[in-house]
Amino acid sequence: MSAKIIDGKVFAASIREKVSTYVAKIKEEHGITPGLAVILVGDKDPASEIYVRNKGKQTVEVGMNSFEHKLSGDTSEEDLLKLIDELNNDASVHGILCQLPLPDHLNEDLVINAIAPDKDVDGFHISNVGLLNTGQKSMVPCTPLGCLMMLRDHHGSLSGLNAVVVGRSNIVGKPVANLLLNDSCTVTIAHSRTKNIEALCAAADIVVAAVGRPEMIKADWIKEGATVIDVGINRIPAPERGDGKMRLVGDVDFASVSQKAGAITPVPGGVGPMTIACLLANTVTACYRVNGLVEPKGLTV
Ligand code: GUN
Repeated sequence: MSAKIIDGKVFAASIREKVSTYVAKIKEEHGITPGLAVILVGDKDPASEIYVRNKGKQTVEVGMNSFEHKLSGDTSEEDLLKLIDELNNDASVHGILCQLPLPDHLNEDLVINAIAPDKDVDGFHISNVGLLNTGQKSMVPCTPLGCLMMLRDHHGSLSGLNAVVVGRSNIVGKPVANLLLNDSCTVTIAHSRTKNIEALCAAADIVVAAVGRPEMIKADWIKEGATVIDVGINRIPAPERGDGKMRLVGDVDFASVSQKAGAITPVPGGVGPMTIACLLANTVTACYRVNGLVEPKGLTV
């Protein structure tokens, strides 16, 4: 049997549509335009520039203000913290995102924790991490939020399902596991040292793959009919497309797993498009919250 393909492009478009509606509403009823500030320091990861450009473009497309701050790679920690302090105190800025990775001389934890938690639309600040961990209202990291929205949409209730999260990063693995736990899944976090990882995954109703290893998860790791969420974005050589060409694959061997799973997200076009859509969702949620308004429905957990 072949799996249902969970289309992240269509899902992300529906989220942007909802965001646009709530942006228009707060503009019309309160004269407030939600604003997102994105900071990019240097060019440690060449892909960051493209991500930041896409974030800015989509922010404007849903009717919000986009503030881009591109700083040189030798910016001092003091100057970066000063900018964050200004943005924290700027009433026209409702969300702040500092693109990672930062240059090596900057302390990422220090920088992230300098962002006001209410404006931390990445959900990386230690107080948002703690709030999510204890099941309280927080800003939820974008990619994990996108994964949860897709899973809730597909299953309705997740209560009682066995979920295995492969990967223990602070950006995806840990927050996804916490979100699933908060939705009453039985959650196992697997990683590179996990014993019998195949058997563990093969017992799961839900597998979330976030390890960054191209096509690691094969069909015999997956229970018949399980739901597979592939967070991986790996660039691998594609000689069949010509000399030096590359293609994107996930952490899941899509060709074989899609014959066995009940539902699966493709790469590209699965989780990827959800991340920026959820960033926009978090920004509009932050804007409603800071203004003491009833927050938008369906844009956070
Ligand atoms: N770099 C790669 N992914 C992310 C993300 O989700 N947020 C930020 N700030 N930087 C990133």
